[in-house]
Amino acid sequence: MSVTYQNDLKHPVFKVLAEYATVHQLDVYVIGGWVRDLLMGRPSKDIDILVVGDGPALASAVAAKLRVKKVSIFKNFGTAHFRYKDLDIEFVGARKESYLPNSRKPQTHQGSLEDDQHRRDFTINSMAISLRHETFGVLIDPFNGQKDLEAGLIRTPLEPSITFSDDPLRMLRAIRFATRFDFQITRPCLEAMKDQADRINILSQERITDELNKIIATHEPSRGFKLLQATGLLAHFFPELTALQGIETRDGKAHKDNFYHTLEVLDNLSRNSDHLWLRWAALLHDIAKPPTKRFDPQIGWTFHGHEELGAKMVPKIFKRLRLPLDQPMKYVQKLVRLHLRPIALVKGSVTDAAIRRLLHEAGDDIEDLMLLCNADITSKNEFKVKRYKQNFELVSEKLKMVEQKDRVRNFQPPVSGQLIMDTFQIGPCAAIGQIKSHIKDAILEGHIANDYQQAVEEMLRIAPTLGLKVQQAPPMPE
Ligand code: CTP
Repeated sequence: MSVTYQNDLKHPVFKVLAEYATVHQLDVYVIGGWVRDLLMGRPSKDIDILVVGDGPALASAVAAKLRVKKVSIFKNFGTAHFRYKDLDIEFVGARKESYLPNSRKPQTHQGSLEDDQHRRDFTINSMAISLRHETFGVLIDPFNGQKDLEAGLIRTPLEPSITFSDDPLRMLRAIRFATRFDFQITRPCLEAMKDQADRINILSQERITDELNKIIATHEPSRGFKLLQATGLLAHFFPELTALQGIETRDGKAHKDNFYHTLEVLDNLSRNSDHLWLRWAALLHDIAKPPTKRFDPQIGWTFHGHEELGAKMVPKIFKRLRLPLDQPMKYVQKLVRLHLRPIALVKGSVTDAAIRRLLHEAGDDIEDLMLLCNADITSKNEFKVKRYKQNFELVSEKLKMVEQKDRVRNFQPPVSGQLIMDTFQIGPCAAIGQIKSHIKDAILEGHIANDYQQAVEEMLRIAPTLGLKVQQAPPMPE
């Protein structure tokens, strides 16, 4: 007797669907990711319903029964969607599909359940559970998806070259699922991916980037990037990253492979943070190492200025990958620019002034910057790593102390432009900026405290050097 999943179909949505299917003699199934996730014991809120017949018509009828008002119907694709409580439910009619060689646009015809299962991406995503009364809860798994799930395999239902050629996005999806679930992609699939890597060029950048972000969001993104690299896919949309790969040796001196180093940093960081853009900062922190690489016979390999050039490369990369150019881009840029600063403090002597400057520049992103720097401490030499980590802790402690004492994070100089104009009876001019930046530096260097009275006294002290005379005494606290 076949196993049934009746007990997992207790949600009212399935009940309504089953009743409707039975009354109207329809073959209706829950299919794809929801079934996969159920078998993996990871409950999902995204339900894909397949009907042998008209998907949108079923969606409208079921929505009416559930008193759902808003149903989105995509006539061209023969699909429909609505939300019910916390569920996202997608309806589609069973299809046979064929694709034209240079387009993602499928030509579709109505098909059977089996036709539909054939044209899905992976065996683990092709399983269906019947919702019809007579067979309610029965798993229909013609490609042994359940077995592949247990074995941890990503395999296509059809010949891989056909499945990938039908929709090249599936090559990225294979890598995403393999990374997310710690699965292996079967060898024939990997070979087909290598053969067809250039087919991803027909995809829109948005869809590629969407998959890329999902790979970055996994618990060990390096696995995904190694697969992207090994299949040749990465080079098609992220040449700056592939350029990091390789080790060069001169006069017996070798530099580290910056591709693998970057991936190690990304994994280290991902163990401590889910923040997508912080993960992007880890991915891009050394992106300018190839263009700044030099060999100096005295000191070996150098990458001077890679943090500055890297920050300059960020907007270009974000633009091309269609990533958000507002806050996320600025945040990543800032972290790339500052990523060496805490480490420089670790290496050198940690003065309060240097800490205050760092706090001031990093502002509220200081904790994220410290997470990135901590992740960036990688070396084959355990002793070196241990020493760095200890020093790093020291810098972290000092950061906390200085922040408590001087409150310089996000601080504004305590003397305003208006006060300067009133005191010296001047209009907007360069002297205002000069006074403000002098006071800021004096505070950060620790010459004066971050306090109004001391700032005003400093302003009065330096005014004559700028040719300014007090015309109206600034207000002073009692
Ligand atoms: N599918 C496919 N080919 C694609 C995209 C999707 O065959 N390029 C099929 C798969 O059967 C998949 C289902 O459509 O299971 C739903 O796709 P989607 O919602 O994108 O992915 P899920 O598998 O549900 O995975 P998740 O939501 O966890 O990303």
